[in-house]
Amino acid sequence: MDKLQYSIKKRTTKIELPAELGFGRLFTDHFFEMDYSPEKGWHNPIIRHIENLSIHPGSMFIHYGQAIFEGLKAFKSADGRVTIFRPKAHFQRLNNSAKRICIPQVDEDFLLHALTELVSIESDWIPTNPGESLYIRPVIYGMDSSLGVKPSASYKLFILLSPVGAYYPEGFKPIKILVQDDYVRAVRKGLGECKTPANYAASLLAATEAKAKGFTQVLWLDGVEQKYLEEVGTMNIFVEFKNEIATPKLNGSILPGVTRRSVIQLLKDKGLNVTERAISIDEVVSAYKDGTLVSLFGTGTAAVISPVGWLTYKNLEMVINNGEPSKIAQELFDQLNSLHTLKVEDKYEWVVQVNKEEVEI
Ligand code: COI
Repeated sequence: MDKLQYSIKKRTTKIELPAELGFGRLFTDHFFEMDYSPEKGWHNPIIRHIENLSIHPGSMFIHYGQAIFEGLKAFKSADGRVTIFRPKAHFQRLNNSAKRICIPQVDEDFLLHALTELVSIESDWIPTNPGESLYIRPVIYGMDSSLGVKPSASYKLFILLSPVGAYYPEGFKPIKILVQDDYVRAVRKGLGECKTPANYAASLLAATEAKAKGFTQVLWLDGVEQKYLEEVGTMNIFVEFKNEIATPKLNGSILPGVTRRSVIQLLKDKGLNVTERAISIDEVVSAYKDGTLVSLFGTGTAAVISPVGWLTYKNLEMVINNGEPSKIAQELFDQLNSLHTLKVEDKYEWVVQVNKEEVEI
C-alpha cells in the first residue's frame, strides 16, 4: 500500500457550529480518498480538502448500484480526548458487505490508520454537547464507465465526516413506529445484511408514506410471510418482555448492527436474559394485550438508543410503556454515552483513542 499523503488547507476562520446540528447536513473541511485498480490494488491514499468528485456518467455504481457504506462515530471527552467507537467492527462489516457485492477487500489496519489521521486533523469539528458527535461515513463504489452488468474493475473509497446531533428530531424521546406489511425491505439470501444503498432505496416509499401519517419510521417484517420482526429502516429492534429482552436473530436479511452487538453484550453483563430469536408480530401484540410487553427500543450508530413510544400494527395503536423510555433503554443510552466519551472505563476495548501528536503532515 502507498504511504498516506496529505494535502491540507489550513482554516483561516474559526469553526462555527450551528446550535441545531441536525443529522448529516454539514461536512468538515477534509476527507480521505483512495482508488482501486486490478493492477495497483488500493492506491493513492490521500487526506485532502473536500471538493466535488468527478464522476463519468457511465460509472457502474450509478447504473447498477455497486456501492457499500458504513456509519460510525467519533467523540470528544470532557478532558479533550478524541475517541472512535468500534472502528474495527465497522471495517470488518464493510469488508463483509464488500464480499457480497463483489467489491475488493480493504486493508482494515490501513483504513484505521487513515481514519485516525483524518479524525485527528478534523478534531476541532467534533461537537461536545450531549447527544452530539462526529459521524463518519466510509463509502466504496464501482467506478468503471460501462453499461454491461458485471462487477466494476476500478473503485473509489472515501471517508466523509459530518458533525451531527440526534438522528431523529425526537432525540432520545420515544418515537412513533408503523409496522409495515405493504412493502418488504429485504429477503433472506438477498442484500439485507449488506450495508448497500439498495436497502435504503427500498425503504424510501414506506418511510415517506409512514411520515405522511405522522410516524417517525417503519418496522419491517420478514420478506416472505410478513410475520416476523426484522428491523427499523435505520436501526435494529429490541423487544423487552417481562422476563426476556429479545432481538431478531441475524438471518441474512437483517443488518448486523454494531450497536446491536454492543447492547447484547451490555445486557448480558447486567445478568439479564437476552435472546436472539425469531419474534412474531403476533407475539408482540399478545404480550401487549396480556401486559407482558415492557418496551421496545431501537439501536444504531446514528440513532444510538431510540425508545418506541407508539407502535401501530394494522388498526391497533399500542402505547408502549405509557409513551416513556423504559428503565433499561435509559440505562443503555447512558452507558453507551459514557463509553463513547470515556466517562467510564472501557473494559470492552471498544474505543480507539485518537492521539493528536501522531499526525505527521
Ligand atoms: C447508521 O446508523 O450509521 C446508519 O447508517 C443508518 C442511517 C443513517 C442510514
